Amino acid sequence: MTYCAIDFGTSNSAVALPAGGAVRLAPVEGAYTTLPTAVFFNTDEHTREFGRAALEAYIDGFDGRLMRSMKSILGSALADTTTDLGDGSAIKYTDVIAIFVDYLKRKAEAVAGAPIERAVLGRPVFFVDDDPRADQLAQRQLEAAARSVGLADIHFQYEPIAAAFDYESRLTEEGLVLVADIGGGTSDFSLVRVGPERMKRMERKDDVLAHHGVHVAGTDFDRRVELTTILREFGYGALDPEGRELPNRIYFDLATWHLINTVYGPKRVSELKLMRHLYTDLRQHDRLTRVVERRLGHALTARAEEAKIGVAAGGQTLIDLEEVEDDLRLAFDEAQLIEAGLDEVNRIVQAARDTVQAAGIVPREVGAVYFTGGSTGLAFLSNALAGAFPDAKPVFGDRLASVATGLGIHAQRVFY
Ligand SMILES: Nc1ncnc2c1ncn2[C@@H]1O[C@H](COP(=O)(O)OP(=O)(O)OP(=O)(O)O)[C@@H](O)[C@H]1O
Ligand SMILES: [Mg+2]
Repeated sequence: MTYCAIDFGTSNSAVALPAGGAVRLAPVEGAYTTLPTAVFFNTDEHTREFGRAALEAYIDGFDGRLMRSMKSILGSALADTTTDLGDGSAIKYTDVIAIFVDYLKRKAEAVAGAPIERAVLGRPVFFVDDDPRADQLAQRQLEAAARSVGLADIHFQYEPIAAAFDYESRLTEEGLVLVADIGGGTSDFSLVRVGPERMKRMERKDDVLAHHGVHVAGTDFDRRVELTTILREFGYGALDPEGRELPNRIYFDLATWHLINTVYGPKRVSELKLMRHLYTDLRQHDRLTRVVERRLGHALTARAEEAKIGVAAGGQTLIDLEEVEDDLRLAFDEAQLIEAGLDEVNRIVQAARDTVQAAGIVPREVGAVYFTGGSTGLAFLSNALAGAFPDAKPVFGDRLASVATGLGIHAQRVFY
């Protein structure tokens, strides 16, 4: 009986399985071995699309509901509530997660050529910050979702520890590594003793000197970019004729994936219409109204993420908002991104320092910092992290596959 290892990420997911003594990633969408954590419930054609296909179906304007960042609702009261699909039917958020986990499992089964009932699932160091009960609930919810699709024997491993196992598989000598896994929803750190001899041991608890994480990562940068750059042109932070800040709930909801749909409700739409007199720049109200009427919330969030990645790749970019208004384009550069995300960077770096401190180790004893997770593509962030450990060697892993591969390595040990 075979097994698989699932990296269910906030933004991207992957699944690994054993392959003749090694670990391989299953193709999960065409030839791709990772896919966006997204499901589109197409109510026009009564189909479900996953990953890139889900995002495309949504962009192509099919009727239906796009679900993303489902992981971030685990542990919250929302997880067990239902959400409308737009055709009169509704679905529980945890069932959306089950549907997505089932998709990954089936991709692994296609490679294995056999049903799979055993799995290692990754988990962030904290699903929920500063709330152990909510955190345990989150793991139980994820486990229940996995069980509901036929996974009977489930083991959890921390995502950054998995990344350490992946890093270790390439080492020739022993060392102390700080793994920095900066993903979409969480920034997770582990301080781990690694080395070719230690690798052979089954029990590695003593080698994990500390682990720690915060709920601040890629999607928080997107949110900041959207608020400070895009929604500023829609009235966020602007003042009404009496000098008070405009009601800002609509902006925060628009910038938060799982709340975007709430602003399209009839009550919210009429509220927005009634607020028109508060806007000293009516163009801002027009833009906001168009976003709501044309349901462009997800599109704006996507523009914010693209702007962030554009800056990561080239230092500057243009944010094209022509869907909202002709010729509305905003210049955006690294300085703006750094300013928007300053708080986030500081909190992430602090979490890294806290991890090392919790182990009773001084920063210069850290031999290497191993970077993984999509957000380590942000140079100012990885530089800030590397700067906190000036004597450590910065090592960049496979940003999107390290955790899944490491979970696969762990699964080999657990299921043998
Ligand atoms: N080139 C890039 N530069 C900067 N950020 C990037 C780049 N590519 C992807 N990202 C960001 O990386 C994040 C996704 O990273 P990743 O796939 O590691 O997260 P995840 O595993 O889904 O999330 P988590 O581990 O927090 O659950 C997104 O916020 C995305 O915008
Ligand atoms: Mg991840």
